[in-house]
Amino acid sequence: MSFSLPERVTLKGPNFIREVFERGVGVPGFISFGIGNPAPEAIPVKVIEDAFDFIVHENPMGLLQYGPMQGDARLSELTLERLSKVHHMNLEGQGLIISNGAGQLLGLVPITVCEPGDEVYMDDYTFTSAINSVRNMGAKAVGIKTDEFGMIPSELEKAAQSGKGKYIYLIPNFQNPTGITMPLERRKEIYAIASKYDLFIYEDDPYGEIRFAGEHVPSFKSFDTENRVLYAGSYSKTLSAGLRVGFLLGPEDVISTIQALKNNTAGQMPLVTQKVVAHVLDQIDYDAHLENVRKVYKSKCDAMMRVFKEKGSSKVHLTEPTGGMFAWMTMPDTVDCDEFFETCMNKNVGIIKCGAFASDGVENGHAFRLSYTVPTIPEIEKGMEILCALTKEYCGE
Ligand SMILES: Cc1ncc(COP(=O)(O)O)c(C=O)c1O
Repeated sequence: MSFSLPERVTLKGPNFIREVFERGVGVPGFISFGIGNPAPEAIPVKVIEDAFDFIVHENPMGLLQYGPMQGDARLSELTLERLSKVHHMNLEGQGLIISNGAGQLLGLVPITVCEPGDEVYMDDYTFTSAINSVRNMGAKAVGIKTDEFGMIPSELEKAAQSGKGKYIYLIPNFQNPTGITMPLERRKEIYAIASKYDLFIYEDDPYGEIRFAGEHVPSFKSFDTENRVLYAGSYSKTLSAGLRVGFLLGPEDVISTIQALKNNTAGQMPLVTQKVVAHVLDQIDYDAHLENVRKVYKSKCDAMMRVFKEKGSSKVHLTEPTGGMFAWMTMPDTVDCDEFFETCMNKNVGIIKCGAFASDGVENGHAFRLSYTVPTIPEIEKGMEILCALTKEYCGE
């Protein structure tokens, strides 16, 4: 038989990330700035190996049965403690979900809160899964114009006047794909608009702990006096992406509804990975570990910036991230970006065309995402030299 699938579940943008991966795999000397994986050197392999060993032998039956729906109790306790003490979030009236990475939440939140026809406001270029999961619900992933500080409040307000808005999706720290961090004043302006139009804010913060320059900016959740922020975090970028452990903090009633949906569709999280993360957090000085992670990312980002400043075309703009994994390269409008991309690929350098991240209503732009996390520093330098030479060839000195 042939299944008749609703159109909404088939809606998705172009998968340029996979294209770069597939075309680059096995090609000798290929340098990919395309892969958004965490830096391998930042993963504390031995600590995690030891944690697995301990967990598996300490109480095997504690791992081999169904676990609690709401997640491992010790992991929840440690996560909440950090959100309260380090990130100054008020936990009163809040609930926590332990999830299969922050990624699972990108699906669960729109499924729980959106009706077909609703609007969700997000940056014009943002994380692909956040866009597609909203589309798959039959809701609209409305792209809002951004500047060097992130989403522009007046543009958000224009869109919100439709009265169809449900929530605002934001990655306020080291945004994927642009690397931009939203300053506090901008966060406050966005919060005021959310309040005026009674929207909630989905603050997706998987990179927040990886600040390697500049000053910490308080999260939306830390000043959420009206209880309208859902805050998502993850251990993927700070410990290991393969463990698939993330979390969501938000108003108890909303969280318990999302939890019920998760129970029905995905059941419990594996116990073993949750207990490994909890054990690691119990065993190590997590802040000292994060300092090491930040050093790794800083040195790689610095290498990318250094070569670009020395050798890139002055007509091309590259964002200077203060944390996270991505930089955003904007070309003059006259450049044919498809051709530029093909030339890069032919020279064995992979970058991601901005169309991969375009939310609804966003016109074809002239930008690329560059990730500095996976290549080694010599590879970053070599790849950037090739890329910079091409920027001069296409755009002039
Ligand atoms: C903005 C954003 N949210 C969520 C995720 C998913 O992270 P996790 O590995 O925790 O599922 C990513 C991963 O790249 C991301 O960039």
